[in-house]
Amino acid sequence: MSQLRFITCGSVDDGKSTLIGRLLYESKLVFEDQLSTLEADSRRDGTQGDALDFALLVDGLAAEREQGITIDVAYRYFTTPHRSFVVADTPGHEQYTRNMVTGASTAELAVILVDARKGLLTQTRRHSYLVSLLGIRHVVLAVNKMDLVGYDEGVFAAIVADYAEFAAEVGLENITAVPLSALRGDNLTGISPNMPWYSGPTLIAHLESVEVQDAAAQGPFRLPVQWVNRPDLDFRGFAGQILGGVVAPGDRVRVLPSGQTSTVARIVTMDGDLERARAGQSVTITLEDEIDVSRGDVLAAADSPPGVADQFEAHIVWMDEGEMLPERRYLCQIGTATVPARITRVKHKVNVNTLEKTAAETLALNEIGVCNISFDRPVPFDVYAESRDMGGLILIDRLTNRTVGAGMVLHALRRADNIHWQAVDINEASRRKLNGHGAAVIWLTGLSGSGKSTIANALERQLHARGCHTYLLDGDNVRHGLNRDLGFTEADRVENIRRVTEVAALMADAGLIVIASFISPFASERRAARDIIGEGFIEVFADAPLDVVEERDPKGLYRKARAGELKNFTGIDSPYEAPEDPDLRIDTTATTPEEAGALLLDRLRAKGIIG
Ligand code: ADX
Repeated sequence: MSQLRFITCGSVDDGKSTLIGRLLYESKLVFEDQLSTLEADSRRDGTQGDALDFALLVDGLAAEREQGITIDVAYRYFTTPHRSFVVADTPGHEQYTRNMVTGASTAELAVILVDARKGLLTQTRRHSYLVSLLGIRHVVLAVNKMDLVGYDEGVFAAIVADYAEFAAEVGLENITAVPLSALRGDNLTGISPNMPWYSGPTLIAHLESVEVQDAAAQGPFRLPVQWVNRPDLDFRGFAGQILGGVVAPGDRVRVLPSGQTSTVARIVTMDGDLERARAGQSVTITLEDEIDVSRGDVLAAADSPPGVADQFEAHIVWMDEGEMLPERRYLCQIGTATVPARITRVKHKVNVNTLEKTAAETLALNEIGVCNISFDRPVPFDVYAESRDMGGLILIDRLTNRTVGAGMVLHALRRADNIHWQAVDINEASRRKLNGHGAAVIWLTGLSGSGKSTIANALERQLHARGCHTYLLDGDNVRHGLNRDLGFTEADRVENIRRVTEVAALMADAGLIVIASFISPFASERRAARDIIGEGFIEVFADAPLDVVEERDPKGLYRKARAGELKNFTGIDSPYEAPEDPDLRIDTTATTPEEAGALLLDRLRAKGIIG
């Protein structure tokens, strides 16, 4: 039996709970005990006199399911003799764009509810835009509460005409409009005698029969490798779920991103080998040649492979309470690959109610924008319109592991295509030989006034005295030049540290011992610095309690901040995330700068950077 996954869009006022409640009831999915509870509740709290109030049924279920879930999408399952259904039910208010995105990401059809008395509302427009954006190709316009407009054909026709215009605007094509009353049961499961002028199907008949072919299933073969199955030296299989097309032994396949080709030898499953497998099936594929394939790679039809790129333009839906920080490295999942990525620019954001595009630097919770996104390495992809699986992405905060955003790839940016790494002959070893020492980045983090600059200065003097080549990058100094365009918002601090990280990496590449002294308040950016600089990165936490640094107040800035004359001051009204596991923690209330410098020299010696 086939399955249909759909989402219902609308608010309680539109009769959404009643609609779902009745579908469950009529498909006999309500259990006896729930039914007697429903009868009792209807008598006590119901709004329908002696009749059952179906909304109470769904709202009751919802309350149960939603306990402790932050993204409250309730999935309900029901079956008719013809099809089984999964309904994603999401709250309809604007602040719940995030929930709708979660519920809609796997739906094949959307039921958009409209109250016949009210016609199209702002939220109808918002829901339709999101439905289109999320790649749902089939829409049912459910014009509800027809009983309250005297089952008038004219009212229905006017709403349908209005909607057609609007649907065209957002690019929705397959629309079926059904006039109904969820409360009275008109045109839900049985043809209503109250609307003889309507000759279309009932809602359930339409849901049972609508053909929803997934574009990707029709498309070329795609299998992102979930794991490499290698039980012994003779067997090497690539396991995963087929996301597009069909495959058979003998087919030529290409491995992305490497581009190598081979031929499918076998399609292995628990129940024996297959002659053929198609989208949706989970299989293990073996190839005729020994080529390199690892987790996250994609096996694809050799003659129509996905693209491979490291920069994209994509729609991004922001789902986190904290606003998106351009240039922060988030973990990005695309296909089965998980790669650090940054949103480098917001081209514009889209007002979901009016579809108006406005300039923006960042995205807040529930906002949607067209953004440039840059991955640390190239990844295989298809555009979202062709494959939701290969073109959909999820952004995860690396420290909290929270899903902070979702995205839909529009196209790859080709700007990096013609830029290559130039080979050079002078390398790290040659510089080490010439300098008599290795390179490193000693990264000092801590509150303003914690003693970072003093330690940095003492260390640089000690290194210099030993004949080492050094450079001190200091927050205040860099902000006079390279970073003079930046202030102290979270976004600006992220960009400040990003630039400094790149500069420090270049200096270390040039053979210097770099001492970087920055508040660098966010663990995420310090982590990125460690990833980019690599081996030679030494994180040092200049640790002193807030009351102590405030007492020291060498630049008088704490006093100003407390007086409200200086905004976003670290430790006062801007956060400082202390390192949990620094390479070295220096308690600056108990250690002199010279002692701290000596400790750091020891560290450099231990790492073989100086002799
Ligand atoms: S960071 O947060 O982006 O790493 P950075 O180390 O470059 O900061 O600059 C910090 C220095 O800028 C402080 O030592 C202080 O002298 C000065 N400053 C001015 N305004 C602020 C502020 N709002 N918060 C912190 N430091 C500030």
